[in-house]
Amino acid sequence: MDKDWEDSNTSPGHQTPDHNWMDEPKYKRLFKDIEDGISGVLGKGEFEWSDRRVFDSVFDQSTLLAIHKLMHAGEIETLDFPIARGKEAHVFHATTPNGPAAVKIFHTTNAVFKSLTKYIDGDPRFGGLKRRHRELVNIWVRKEVRNLRRCRRYGIPAPMPRANNKNVLIMDLIGDYNEPAPRIRDIHVPDPEEVFDQLIMYISVLWQNATLVHSDFSEFNVLYHRGQPWIIDVGQAVVEQHPSAREFLVRDVTRIVDWANRSGMNVNLEDSLLRVIDDPAPNLEPLSGSD
Ligand SMILES: Nc1ncnc2c1ncn2[C@@H]1O[C@H](COP(=O)(O)OP(=O)(O)O)[C@@H](O)[C@H]1O
Ligand SMILES: [Mg+2]
Repeated sequence: MDKDWEDSNTSPGHQTPDHNWMDEPKYKRLFKDIEDGISGVLGKGEFEWSDRRVFDSVFDQSTLLAIHKLMHAGEIETLDFPIARGKEAHVFHATTPNGPAAVKIFHTTNAVFKSLTKYIDGDPRFGGLKRRHRELVNIWVRKEVRNLRRCRRYGIPAPMPRANNKNVLIMDLIGDYNEPAPRIRDIHVPDPEEVFDQLIMYISVLWQNATLVHSDFSEFNVLYHRGQPWIIDVGQAVVEQHPSAREFLVRDVTRIVDWANRSGMNVNLEDSLLRVIDDPAPNLEPLSGSD
């Protein structure tokens, strides 16, 4: 079954950019099967999205197939509404038998790539390019899963990954009931000093114990939930051996020091860096769902 869909997707000369694959009987069947489950994100009317181009960029055929599999595996009941729409990924609120979840769907095409497809589609020499791009995205998802587990193994509050398939990652929703937690950039944090101390401690635990650098640490990737900061978006995190690890570490600390100073504190970059590198990091209890 899987093979069947894959083949129709990549056989040379089969697809033009405007080819309406959704009209093919097998995709119609597949779509009908999960239509109710994704109706929350479809907008009004059958097969319609507020913006068809956005729909195509998020729910392309391989993504629909991945969602289909995850629904049949009992990992998702319904995709309900978008939490965030980004350049690289959309994050949706989902209902599952295990409670609410956040489902991060990475785009399998990006703007640059998309604008190139008109030159590549139909040229037999580039038949594998789309597939290679998708494979890269799939590797990225697996990297985010591993990094989330690694964070949790060292006691860093990060969402527990539950399941993934291709470009779709299901993790615990950080938030209460159906309300996703806000980013620290979106709210007035009542206790910024405490949050800052915790964040510096987390960066230090990641660096000294987990030998990991988040590499996109900022007020955009920290959620505030039940009076605590939670770390998200760890796909790009690198291990200590990465040639730029130290550079990324300094950048991470700089960004969070800037946030602290904008939040009315008066903290010094050098002191904060020394705290991360020199002060012995505590050994935190592992969180469930880590390796
Ligand atoms: N597990 C989660 N629980 C609640 N909200 C989340 C979760 N994961 C992501 N989000 C929301 O989705 C947004 C985008 O997710 P993120 O992982 O940062 O992806 P991006 O690479 O697009 O920045 C976040 O800023 C946050 O608001
Ligand atoms: Mg982010």
